[in-house]
Order: sequence, then C-alpha cells, then structure tokens
Amino acid sequence: MKVEGARGIFVGGASGMCRATAGEFVRRGGKVAILDREQSDGAKVAEELGGQFYPCNVAHYDKMGEAIDEAVTGLGGVDFCLNTAGGGVQTRTLGRNGEMHSIEDFEGVVKLNLVATFNINRNVARHMAQNEPTEDGERGVMINTSSIAAFEGQIGQVAYTASKAGVSGMTLTMARDLGVLGIRVMAIAPSLFSTGMTAAVTDDFAQNLVRDAAFPKRMGKPEEFATMALAIFECPMMNGSTLRVDAGQRFGPK
Ligand SMILES: NC(=O)c1ccc[n+]([C@@H]2O[C@H](COP(=O)([O-])OP(=O)(O)OC[C@H]3O[C@@H](n4cnc5c(N)ncnc54)[C@H](O)[C@@H]3O)[C@@H](O)[C@H]2O)c1
Repeated sequence: MKVEGARGIFVGGASGMCRATAGEFVRRGGKVAILDREQSDGAKVAEELGGQFYPCNVAHYDKMGEAIDEAVTGLGGVDFCLNTAGGGVQTRTLGRNGEMHSIEDFEGVVKLNLVATFNINRNVARHMAQNEPTEDGERGVMINTSSIAAFEGQIGQVAYTASKAGVSGMTLTMARDLGVLGIRVMAIAPSLFSTGMTAAVTDDFAQNLVRDAAFPKRMGKPEEFATMALAIFECPMMNGSTLRVDAGQRFGPK
C-alpha cells in the first residue's frame, strides 16, 4: 500500500517508536490520528503532525472501541494501524524469599499487552473491512508490537514474555482470519530502543544491555523502527509473521 493519501491510527503515538512512525507517515503524505493516554503528549504531537488526538486507555476495551470509531470518522477511514501501547512488571515466578508472582500483576500485563492489542485489532479490522480494495486486493495493514523478550525472556520478565509471545503467536492466525478481506497483520519485535519506556537507562547501563548484539552495539533509534513499520505497510508480501529488529541481539538470562 502507498503512504501518500493513506489514513493511519497510531496507538501509543504520543511517544517513542509510534510517534516516530506517525511523523514519517505524515512526511510521506499520510494523515494520522494519535491515540494515547490523556496525560500524554498526544495533543502536542497531533498538532505538530496536523492530525487529531484521541485520549484513551487501551485496557478499557469498550471505550477503546469508541475512541477507534471516533478516530476513523475523523480520518474518513483507516488503512494502517500501529499499536505500541504496553509495558510490564519486573517480578520472578517465585521470589528469593519464596513469595509468589501475584496473579493480578500477571493478568494485568497480559491484559495490557495482549488482550488490549487483540481488542484494537478486531475494532480496526471492522473498519478496514469497509475499504474499497486496492488493485492488489488490499484493504489495510495492522502492526502490533512484540519484543525479543517474546523469544528469550530474561529473569523477572515472565508476565511480559507471556504477553508478547501471545502477540507474536496470534499474528499468523489473525492474518489468516483476515486474509480473505485483504487485511495484513504483522508484529515487530524490537530489542532495546531509546524511547520513553527506556528513558531511565543510562549510557553505561545501555552498553551493558546491548553487549550481546552483533552490530551495531547500541540501542535502536525510534526512526529505525519507523523505517521497518512503513516498509511492512508498503510491501504486500509482508504478512503473518514477527519481524525482529534487534541488531542480532539474543538476550541472555539476565
Ligand atoms: N523501547 C524498547 O526498548 C522496547 C523493546 C521491546 C518492546 N518494546 C515495546 O514497545 C512498546 C513501548 O513503546 P516505546 O518503547 O516507544 O515506549 P514509549 O513509552 O516511548 O511509548 C509508548 C506509548 O504508549 C502509551 N501507553 C502506554 N500505556 C497505555 C495505555 N494503557 N493506553 C494508551 N496508551 C498507553 C504511552 O503513554 C506512550 O506514549 C511496548 O509495547 C513495549 O513492550 C519496547
């Protein structure tokens, strides 16, 4: 699909990788709706990009559906959806003093990263299904954010790993579900990227975290994520898989 004239919904678009992708989308001639938490920089980012801001919390499923409806109405349709909203907790299955990982924390992370992603996808698909297909039969593209922790989660990341493995795991099935409509579904699994989420990571600490990368041995830049996301949008053969964007890094246990 072509970015020029396309309409994109960016969930988590107030910051980091989603913000960078929205910026590049506009630079190449697309229109954007920024969906993010009320207290985020969403309004400022939307103004900078000539788009609209829709405050939301992805974990409030029904209200999220309404925010997507409003964004689609504002854009006049939707061709692209990128979702990066997410997060985690740092807790071992069983702590050093024998304390168990709480079910509430585990469930909360799975809801935020996996169930909320599925909810966004089903709502966006409902709108994309109304699009006139392109010459190639395409009606839209959705990209979800996994993590390399989906494949090699580190100690203390059990809930995060489970949720991101779920995001990667549902990608092919959803692509198959929606293939009949010409809607593609992909996931991107980043390694460590310099974003709002990793703002507390100091340069010294970052060097330690990326020591196992092949090249380059540094954190990724949000613009590098944006390059991949838009390449996926533009290439009809990209579908049903998780693309690692990780400089060859494989996380060790710690
Ligand atoms: N940065 C990394 O190193 C890294 C690595 C692997 C995966 N990820 C994944 O990328 C995503 C984070 O993106 P980022 O790194 O650009 O971080 P970021 O903090 O810069 O951006 C994330 C945006 O999502 C929004 N958000 C968070 N929770 C939300 C909610 N409940 N409702 C609505 N909006 C919400 C935040 O307000 C923020 O604007 C997460 O899914 C994370 O698991 C990040």
